[in-house]
Amino acid sequence: MEIKKVGVVGCGLMGAGIVEASARANYEVVVREINDELLQKGLGRIQKSLTTAVARGKVTQEQADQALARIHGTLNLADFAGCDLVVEAAVENMGLKKEIFSELDQIAPPHTILASNTSSLCITEMASVTRRGDKVLGIHFFNPVPVMPLIEFVRTILTSDETMQIAQQFGASLGKTMVTAKDTPGFIVNRLLIPYLLDAVKIYEDGLASKEDIDTAIKLGLNHPMGPLTLLDFVGLDTTLFIADAMYEEYKDPRYAAPPLLRRMVLAGQMGRKSGKGFYSYT
Ligand code: 3HC
Repeated sequence: MEIKKVGVVGCGLMGAGIVEASARANYEVVVREINDELLQKGLGRIQKSLTTAVARGKVTQEQADQALARIHGTLNLADFAGCDLVVEAAVENMGLKKEIFSELDQIAPPHTILASNTSSLCITEMASVTRRGDKVLGIHFFNPVPVMPLIEFVRTILTSDETMQIAQQFGASLGKTMVTAKDTPGFIVNRLLIPYLLDAVKIYEDGLASKEDIDTAIKLGLNHPMGPLTLLDFVGLDTTLFIADAMYEEYKDPRYAAPPLLRRMVLAGQMGRKSGKGFYSYT
């Protein structure tokens, strides 16, 4: 089976990136949002990213225009009827994801592969509401999707070899490098990243060093592109807290227990870049 048409559920930060990466790799893409305002915002995000890609010499203006022409926005999941692969990138809510998977299972033809971009929720639970567990897997992208070279493929105990093979061909066609992990919270990257980010908040909370010095130490001492508190603002404090809570819920390991400061910053609306304030200000 060859993937020709890709569906993406959700046009937020990750959804928009997946749409753009797929359209740039010559796939026809249908993207669905829940209302027109969010859809236009997401499509605007893709347009802006493509403009940057042209300015950086990554694609020509003609290639960017062609990619945009391959993207079709919709408010209706029924428009995924012709898709060979659907990637769900909706908000991290299991109830909502199960509703989406159940609906997609009714709408999409039997050959269609259903994937989730979740960073921590159980893929097997999403597969359980479909009649095609062998065609369900996790395809976990990294932010910013058009720039980050990795995809984590998440295989459940139901996912077939054929599904893995087709999904990996898709990943390769996007120019990404791929790794495979079992269906456990955090997969590979977040399993290692989240305790590190939580520790950075803890040492800042303990007064070990200033936020700037924590970030500079890691940036220059380890050659990371961003220090941990800058990365937290970039990923979103709410997203990080959500992943940490999901990992703690599964493992009950104190390494994944969110420090009080992180929870309080999220409660105070300090989510990072997306809200204009996190550890740093973005006004
Ligand atoms: N399309 C294509 N390429 C683009 C682009 C676009 N829209 N925007 C930028 N680029 C390219 C640039 O041309 C440049 O490429 P080059 O090195 O070949 O010239 C490269 O991307 C870097 O761009 P910039 O120079 O503008 O940006 P910076 O050097 O400041 O890097 C960054 C920005 C890539 C975000 C970098 O700071 C970084 O890698 N940060 C860490 C990001 C990270 O860790 N992401 C993962 C988060 S965890 C996650 O997503 C998982 C989730 O589950 C939590």
